[in-house]
Amino acid sequence: MGKVGLGLAVGCAVVSCTLAAILVRRRLKSRSKWNRALAVLREFQEECSTPVGRLRQVVDAMAVEMHAGLASEGGSKLKMLLTFVDKLPAGDEKGVYYALDLGGSNFRVLRVLLEGKQQRIADLQVEKQSIPLHLMTGTSEALFDYIASTLKDFVEKENNENGLQPGMRELGFTFSFPMKQTLVSSGVLVKWTKGFAIEDMYQKDVAECLRQAMARVGLEMHIAALVNDTVGTLAVGHYYDGDIVAAVIIGTGTNACYVERTDAITKCQGLLANSGSMVVNIEWGNFWSSHLPRTSYDKVLDEESPNPLEQGFEKMISGMYLGEIVRRVILRMGQECNLFGDIGSKLEEPFILRTPLMSAMHEDDSPDLREVARIMKENLGVSDVPLKVRRLIVSVCDVVACRAARLVAAGIVGILKKIGRDGSGGVGGWSKGDGHGKMRRTVIAIEGGLYESYSRFREYLHAAVEELLGKEVAQHVFLRLTHDGAGIGAALLAASYSS
Ligand code: BGC
Repeated sequence: MGKVGLGLAVGCAVVSCTLAAILVRRRLKSRSKWNRALAVLREFQEECSTPVGRLRQVVDAMAVEMHAGLASEGGSKLKMLLTFVDKLPAGDEKGVYYALDLGGSNFRVLRVLLEGKQQRIADLQVEKQSIPLHLMTGTSEALFDYIASTLKDFVEKENNENGLQPGMRELGFTFSFPMKQTLVSSGVLVKWTKGFAIEDMYQKDVAECLRQAMARVGLEMHIAALVNDTVGTLAVGHYYDGDIVAAVIIGTGTNACYVERTDAITKCQGLLANSGSMVVNIEWGNFWSSHLPRTSYDKVLDEESPNPLEQGFEKMISGMYLGEIVRRVILRMGQECNLFGDIGSKLEEPFILRTPLMSAMHEDDSPDLREVARIMKENLGVSDVPLKVRRLIVSVCDVVACRAARLVAAGIVGILKKIGRDGSGGVGGWSKGDGHGKMRRTVIAIEGGLYESYSRFREYLHAAVEELLGKEVAQHVFLRLTHDGAGIGAALLAASYSS
């Protein structure tokens, strides 16, 4: 080999060594990026974990806080609001009743024809509208005028189509926010949740706001019942099943109510006829306990929310927040571990990853996770996400959904514990009252998009209820899905309380 040849060979060797070194360095770098991403996931998994021991502590804390909230005003973060609903529909109601259901992002107007025990709900008309965003933070007059005129159009259309004579119509109004009530037909807003912030609403009677708006649009109706959505759900559950003891909503927001003995409510005794029972709106969205598995993502989400330090349980559980928690975790992975190259600015936008998108990614069962790739690209502006990163995203969704579902289960078992239906032998749960009889059938009405449409979430919830109660007791406890319960239940309560 001549000098030139030797030079070339040496040159080639140097180039290939350098290339190999670059490749190794790149591979090491990308491996260390990947390891870092896995470490972020593992840390998150750890912080969110809900082993059964921890869940039991949440169950106990829920029951203790319920007691405290019933004992005195302000005794707990749980408001335990009295609803003055002391009779629940039983099936023999008859007549035409209307309902207005103002929930989170939507509101519904309904007309229900009740035909007593045989036919039950013989006819149901429902119209759904989304609430324009600007009305959620504007004035009470603007919001209620919009609702009242929609209701008026609905009533007129229904009456024309059905040839109904105009007369005094009875209305049940579901207002899915905490209210302080002294009567079943009126109540004052305690605070807004779920992104609503209408400042001039505080201290105002909610039914009166609607009454005035109806007068402005020339609609005459009698508001027979003003109820929280959980109470409507409980009412519709009870209409079909007398063993219903509680109702839970897991939708945009979350909450539960249950039937309590009035002698167990030691606050506000002056307002209670001290016999029988009353539905209590727990407002469990505001539940707090040091046993809740709270992460740094939850803390920042809370700090940046319009209601910091409030609705802590809701912010870990409900549809408004789950997708947002996932977004925050994958954004951090993207930023710290450079997983997505140049991060699409959309991923940085709060609340862009809505919970239905999260559940679609979580439940993507295609081998190459096509749906995850599509959502990342179309909704979040991140293209070409490698398969292993898609898998990582699914794992994040899984952690968030699993924690939420297990916490709901703990909340439900907490209520059962409070009323002695958790199988621990309290008198309420056993037909003979001695702990050796047969466990009473116990039904919980449940409603909300998260429960209804997110099957993994539902499965985690059911499994955790069974884990907490044990198989023996769990076979007597049923979660019963209701539909449009908040609205139909308000119409049923309008029937129970109509003039
Ligand atoms: C509200 C509750 C409501 C729940 C479900 C929460 O944000 O505070 O009153 O029942 O959402 O809609």
